[in-house]
Amino acid sequence: MTFQGNQPAPQVPKKIGELPRQQGGALKNRIVANKFDGKKLDNSILRIIMPSSLLATILLEVDGVEKLERAVGNFVTGDKFWNRDREIETFVEYLDEGAHILMAAPRRIGKTSLMREVALRVQDKYYCLHVDLQKSESSADAVAELGKATHTHKKIWAKTTEIFRNILDWTTENIQAFNIDEIGITLRSGMTAGDWQAKGDQLFSTLAETDKPVIVFFDELPILINRLLKGKEYKITPEHKKVADAFMSWIRDNSIRHKGSVRIVITGSIGIEPALRQADLSASLNTFTPFVLPAWSQDTAIGCLKALANQYGVSFQEGALYRITERLGYLIPHHVQLFFDNIYVDSKLHSRKEVTVDRVDEIYETRMLSIQGHAELSHMEERLKMAFGLEVYPLALEILTEAAVTGYLDAEASLTICKEYVFEGLISKEVLRDILEILQHDGYLRQQGEEFVFVSNLLKDWWKRRFDFGYIPVSKRRS
Ligand SMILES: Nc1ncnc2c1ncn2[C@@H]1O[C@H](COP(=O)(O)OP(=O)(O)O)[C@@H](O)[C@H]1O
Ligand SMILES: [Mg+2]
Repeated sequence: MTFQGNQPAPQVPKKIGELPRQQGGALKNRIVANKFDGKKLDNSILRIIMPSSLLATILLEVDGVEKLERAVGNFVTGDKFWNRDREIETFVEYLDEGAHILMAAPRRIGKTSLMREVALRVQDKYYCLHVDLQKSESSADAVAELGKATHTHKKIWAKTTEIFRNILDWTTENIQAFNIDEIGITLRSGMTAGDWQAKGDQLFSTLAETDKPVIVFFDELPILINRLLKGKEYKITPEHKKVADAFMSWIRDNSIRHKGSVRIVITGSIGIEPALRQADLSASLNTFTPFVLPAWSQDTAIGCLKALANQYGVSFQEGALYRITERLGYLIPHHVQLFFDNIYVDSKLHSRKEVTVDRVDEIYETRMLSIQGHAELSHMEERLKMAFGLEVYPLALEILTEAAVTGYLDAEASLTICKEYVFEGLISKEVLRDILEILQHDGYLRQQGEEFVFVSNLLKDWWKRRFDFGYIPVSKRRS
């Protein structure tokens, strides 16, 4: 798609390097390319240089309806990123005010995508470092990841190599020859349990001295915290607590020391607050501003589905789009994309012209509830194990199964289930209260009157399919 000469020309600066900051507002995802000043502009650059309302008008005039490329795997940015305008605006506002941010939200809601998209949009003002802690098992691993993340910025990377030079005999040439994974491993191998903190502090000090402020995005931090806190046995011990405490203090101290020059963003899917509370470390994040990333509204989800349909030539019967949102119940972006993906594959396979409401139901029952659910659930089980510890996990699992199979969980059922579990040194009712709190915090259950119900229909149905067999609901046990 090219920018037409007869369209009103936007006010653009002379060089891409001089582009002002994004001007906010409703931005549209479009496939637009334009030549400007000898450089190819794609829509992410157009977004930065134009008021969004003007951009939206121009884009609609160019080809009428919006389009979106599908994606059902990793994080999305640019032409694959849909909406989130208001969230991005607020997020950037916080960053511009110098705040550290704590964003906790359920899995697959788009946390990583939001952070990556924000980073793209503010890259002129900030150096952005993406530190993925999903695989980190120790504080030293996390520091190695932080060092590795500086690799994308030449000037900062040069300083990182200085910090690690005393332990690794590197020359500029062989540093260049390393690939990114080797860099992480090499940095890690040069640290000990005793010096990760000093190296980490040096890295933060380096970040604070750059010519632009820095944003460090720590993704999946709660996974690391839970690992530190519970170890391989998934059990909190005084030693584990000490290790988790040292790590959180390191983050906290640096967030205070370098406020103004470094912003820290922490995010993750499993409850960081419940984990920290278990370790009496709640105060360690009180320098962070909480940020809520909600699921999509119905309008946003339907807009996304229309743009996907437009991109791939799929047509929906009236009511079919609404039915998709109704079946899902809770509009987690990944589930919306997954639904479309299944519809698209099905339409191609059977050469269907139009997707009917009945077809949406069939696809939900057959495709949506089949294989994909298994992969998602095994991730969730693993994370629930981590959040609860091995001892408490079976009770949490049964609580969820009761809610999925019966459709709700009431006080009587939860107490009946609870009686079957004995925890050394713990009061079952208190354990139950903690479980319900974590399950609500992590977006599994919500309170509805006197009962707890699943937030997402899809998750409930997945859970039910997996754990229904052989499970006797509490009401049937009594009779
Ligand atoms: N803004 C968005 N636009 C389009 N799809 C999205 C968006 N955010 C999330 N998704 C969908 O959700 C999937 C998971 O996104 P991700 O950012 O990895 O979630 P999280 O980090 O919360 O687990 C993506 O592969 C994509 O299918
Ligand atoms: Mg993520």
